[in-house]
Amino acid sequence: MLAVCTKEDGTAELRQVDVPKIRSDEVLVKVVAAAQNPADWVFTEWRKGKEPAIVGLDFAGIVQEVGQSIDSFQVGDRVAGMVHGCKDLNGSFAEYVAAIPHMMFKVPESWSLEDASQLPCACYTACQSLYQSQDLPYPDNPAPVPFDILSWASGTSVGQFTVQLAKLGGMRVIATASPKHFDRLKALGIDDVFDYHDPDVSKKIKAYTNGKLRHAVDCICKEDTPKAISDALSDEGGTVSVVRQIKPARDEVKHVFALALDLSERPYSFPFEYTPKPGMADFADKSSKMIARLLREGKLTPAPIKVYPDGLASFKEGFEYMKSGQVSGEKIVYRVADTPGIRS
Ligand SMILES: NC(=O)c1ccc[n+]([C@@H]2O[C@H](COP(=O)([O-])OP(=O)(O)OC[C@H]3O[C@@H](n4cnc5c(N)ncnc54)[C@H](OP(=O)(O)O)[C@@H]3O)[C@@H](O)[C@H]2O)c1
Repeated sequence: MLAVCTKEDGTAELRQVDVPKIRSDEVLVKVVAAAQNPADWVFTEWRKGKEPAIVGLDFAGIVQEVGQSIDSFQVGDRVAGMVHGCKDLNGSFAEYVAAIPHMMFKVPESWSLEDASQLPCACYTACQSLYQSQDLPYPDNPAPVPFDILSWASGTSVGQFTVQLAKLGGMRVIATASPKHFDRLKALGIDDVFDYHDPDVSKKIKAYTNGKLRHAVDCICKEDTPKAISDALSDEGGTVSVVRQIKPARDEVKHVFALALDLSERPYSFPFEYTPKPGMADFADKSSKMIARLLREGKLTPAPIKVYPDGLASFKEGFEYMKSGQVSGEKIVYRVADTPGIRS
């Protein structure tokens, strides 16, 4: 099959590799669309000096083969899921991917596979931020009395789904984003949105929440965001779910970090050594089932996608676009069938 593989010099290339063999607890998926995450170009660079690995976390496609111990998926199912790209010769920027059932879900016909490819990593991260890091209410058991949550950087993919899940969980959702996303975010049902470029943004959010804000998700974790969020929280502080390890701006603010890769509950040694913690697979399975249900019920909305014309062969352009900070309220998606040289 064709796949985007990392090279020893810290770049990547499209080349022929073997189709991955599945274990009895895995599913082989024919990838229709692969979506790009910041980890894809970052991990590619971090693989400098290491043996080749296939790039890509997010995929959507059709189940091709099912391991003996799997009864939750069947050949022909439309699915989306996430794998640990750039670790070995299995990644989503390829014609086929060996997927883990608890990190994938069925996609209803109402969703295109291109749109669905943006869901897994962003939704799992949103689930971890809301339910694993902070024990906030799920959509099937929403807060009886709404309380405030701040989703900082809601123009991100992670933010797109954090605000929707938080709203479905009965919270009053306050977001920050660039003004060009305001209408799109308000259409998702959020309660208000502020421009994070405004020097008074934290003060305005603190006033809007009467100084009582105790919960936030930092969906971007840049150098300036811990202080900006801390200034919006109550004087007593609060809890912030963070998508990257970053220090809180004051003692009263607690940061809780979670990593979507850990949901496989399998050990890994790239990008660092990790020993699995029990409960991760169960959490992922619960999250996957919830995402599948919300998709069936029409309760999730995708962000706009940016599809490159040459499928996987366009990955260098996609990496450059993302690396240079041009991604704004959109998800880069590669349609595998658009790749020159693909047989089917
Ligand atoms: N922990 C995990 O497992 C995990 C999983 C996935 C992603 N992540 C991390 O989560 C972050 C977001 O990933 P993503 O894929 O959702 O990102 P993304 O969609 O590629 O992010 C693009 C958006 O970032 C926003 N942005 C850039 N700088 C900002 C700033 N200083 N303040 C506020 N917003 C800013 C822009 O918002 P505007 O357009 O509104 O200006 C833009 O729309 C990344 O750091 C990624 O590495 C972590």
